[in-house]
Order: sequence, then C-alpha cells, then structure tokens
Amino acid sequence: MIKIRVPATSANLGPGFDCLGLTLNIWNEISFEPANKVTYHANGQGAEKLNKGTRNLLTKAFTYVHEICGKDLKGFNIQAHNEIPMSSGLGSSAAAIIGGLFGANELLNHPLNENELLLLATNMEGHPDNVAPALFGGLVVSVTSDDEIITRRYDIPNWAIVIVKPSVEWPTRVARAVLPKSVSRVDAVYNIGRTALVVDALRNKDLELLQKVMDDRLHQSYRLKHISGAISAYKTAKQFGAAALSGAGPSIICFVPFEKAESAKAEIMFRFQEHGIKAWGITTTPSKQGAHRI
Ligand code: HSE
Repeated sequence: MIKIRVPATSANLGPGFDCLGLTLNIWNEISFEPANKVTYHANGQGAEKLNKGTRNLLTKAFTYVHEICGKDLKGFNIQAHNEIPMSSGLGSSAAAIIGGLFGANELLNHPLNENELLLLATNMEGHPDNVAPALFGGLVVSVTSDDEIITRRYDIPNWAIVIVKPSVEWPTRVARAVLPKSVSRVDAVYNIGRTALVVDALRNKDLELLQKVMDDRLHQSYRLKHISGAISAYKTAKQFGAAALSGAGPSIICFVPFEKAESAKAEIMFRFQEHGIKAWGITTTPSKQGAHRI
C-alpha cells in the first residue's frame, strides 16, 4: 500500500492567464491498496458527489498510466481524504489528475519521468497552469510548446494567503466560455509585463509591487461580473493586499501581511454574504512541495 499527498493550486495569479500557478498548503491525501478490482471512496470535500461511482478523474488518470505503460491493472482500493474544495478555482481537478498519474507511477516503480507525467496531465486538463505546480510545488511558469510543456519552478517566501470561496455554481467550462475569442494588442501588452513582475514580486515578497501589478485584462473582468458578490469581494480584497480571481474562479485569492489575514478573510466573506451568498474562507501559505509520497 502507498499513500500520497497532492496540493491545491491557484492559477493565473492575475495577469498570468493559463501560464502561472502557485502551490498552496491545502492537501488531498490518497492511499492505494492492492485489491481484486478498482474501488474508490472519498471523505471530506466533494465526497458525496465523488462516491457516486468509481469513474472519476483520479481513477481515470490512474488507469491511463497502466494502459500506456502496458501494465495489467487487477485492482486497487483507492481512499481519498480531500481538503481541496471542488469547483472552486483551487485546482481540485488538477489534484485528482496528478493524484492518479503520480500514484500509478509510484506503484509501477517510475516508468514515466516528471516531464512525461506533466504532458499527460496537461493533455487531460487542457492547460498546464494547475497541474504543473500540483506536480512540482512552488511557483511554476509553464508554456505549451509543440510536443512538450516548458516550465520553470521557483521557491517563494512564506506569504499569508487568504482564500475565499463563494457557494455558487461556476464550472470552468462556463468560466472559459464567457471569455472573448481574441484580445486587443493593448490588452495583451498590459498583461505581458505584469506577468513578469508578478513573478518577481512573489519571489521577493514585495507586497507593494504585487499590489501594483496583480492586475489583468484577459479574463477577470469578463468573469467577475457573472459571480454574485465577486466584484465587491475583489475590491475589498485589494484594500487588504494584492488580490486576484483564483484560477477561473469563483474563489478570490488575496496576499496579505500575516497580521491582516483574519480580518481580510472576514471582510471578503462578508461581501459575498451581503449578496446572500454563503462563503468559505481559509488562510494558507505557499508550499514548496508538490505531489509526494508519505
Ligand atoms: N487558467 C485556467 C483558466 C485555470 O483561467 O481558465 C482554470 O482551470
């Protein structure tokens, strides 16, 4: 039997649409025990939905590695304890994909290297910005080339990170459908320089710089207006620190000084509650570690 942990991730970080991702200290723990057939049981976040069957992203990814490596898969009891909320913009689907791929690769004694795992994960997810940090840890910049994903990862200092998730239905499919098909050169230029500066600000724990450059013209404004209370929550988050929509949303991510974290969380949650929307909040930190065996 083996046990692994897979982290939550926050993609985009403002301007880095589809290419920046940060690993967070929020974890799903998964155990794999040999058995006669594949069974799956989850507790924690999303358990009710996940326990409806054994076909989910994690078991699909787990089976896929066996198939492409030509290995028989008799069966496994897979148990997940999930802390990452689903459909929240915190990379729960990336964690499931990496959990299945990484777990199978460990059990089969590493037939695939990290880059091969990343390529498989990106093909399943559609973009690398959550799966890359879920696998490697830290802050990861990733781009898709012809037949490879090019990445660089960075350790970043210990920031306080507030996450607030409103209880709204906001599937990534819809969050991508509301985006324009093309963007102006002015908007593209606006994001390019800011993306480079967000990386610099995070690596140097420069909150003043991060507040100035964690801004975006490619996705946030198109999305925020569809999420009840999100515009007001986002504005409040910006008053406390540097804020962005986490991934495709609906969560808000806010980088703050440690001493302001609790009041920032309460105020941002309150903005959603004012709009009649329940909200869940957590204060976390970045993780240097990605998926690993425990
Ligand atoms: N970069 C992605 C998006 C993250 O913003 O749509 C969500 O998976």
